[in-house]
Amino acid sequence: MVELKNTTATIKLNTGASIPVVGLGTWRSTEADDGYKAVRKALEVGYRHIDTAAIYQNEGQVGKAINDSGVPRSEIFVTTKLWCTQQHNPKEALEQSLKRLGLDYVDLYLMHWPVSLSPRTIKDGNLLTIPVREDGARDVEISDWNFIKTWELMQELPATGLTKAIGISNFSINNIKDLLASPGNKIVPAMNQVELHPLLPQQELIDFCHSKDIIIEAYSPLGSNNAPLLTQKTIIEVAKKNNVTPAQVVISWHVQRGYVVLPKSVNADRIVANLKTFTLSKEDFDAVSNISKVEGEKRIVVPDWSPFVPFV
Ligand code: A2P
Repeated sequence: MVELKNTTATIKLNTGASIPVVGLGTWRSTEADDGYKAVRKALEVGYRHIDTAAIYQNEGQVGKAINDSGVPRSEIFVTTKLWCTQQHNPKEALEQSLKRLGLDYVDLYLMHWPVSLSPRTIKDGNLLTIPVREDGARDVEISDWNFIKTWELMQELPATGLTKAIGISNFSINNIKDLLASPGNKIVPAMNQVELHPLLPQQELIDFCHSKDIIIEAYSPLGSNNAPLLTQKTIIEVAKKNNVTPAQVVISWHVQRGYVVLPKSVNADRIVANLKTFTLSKEDFDAVSNISKVEGEKRIVVPDWSPFVPFV
């Protein structure tokens, strides 16, 4: 029988800080006090890494849970993200996030997408939304702004103490190359958080980021809403063979690949179980790695940012 253990391993960022390899994802943990209860449970059972974002609309719940948990702030790694409507002013956006969170700083602040949305059509002042033009398309700023300008502004944030590190999310190899080659680039992103799971293994992106000292984080690691990967034949077989749950197979596979993984759950038992990982045998590891070769790759999170195309 394999040994399941609470995952306490960490990875070093290019800032020197350590990030726990398993973090609690909170996308869609917004209903009632779902986000609050999930984060309280997670911190109670040993998670020390919580991932949120301004657009998840749950920073208030998440921050309150952190503050109520009794776990010293210095022991928790907290990430939030800059929403696309605020790319012209990341400092103000971060200050607003911190206010909602009720925290003095975050450990990591990510540019959520390499896409700027114009706030000009927003009437009620709420920037945490997706503005659309009259024709119904998302109001993407394409000619007068780009992610390089946003990154230049974000680079000023670590010196303010409001965040310990800065990074990016949903960046392709080409976009990272452009960012690093830009004349104003002074800081290599500490992190690139991307969709990553057995149907989208992203080996080339992982290798590229690691070669640049950028750590990868997997979002939607179970295949996102309703965890479609957990009913996949090979994953069920490996789970049965090792007497563990399908989610533990997938999360352990991620951990073994050497990056950070952010399973989301609002269910107390699953939160407990998702922190427990084991070492897959080479045969089982290869079987999970092979799924995308047999079934084809599948990207689940594909918002329409046209005319900007992020994943090229
Ligand atoms: P729930 O929050 O009700 O537990 P991802 O992390 O890839 O975004 O996947 C999140 C989805 O997977 C959610 O629907 C979540 O539902 C579900 N989920 C999370 N952990 C487990 C688990 N251990 N077993 C089954 N489903 C899970």
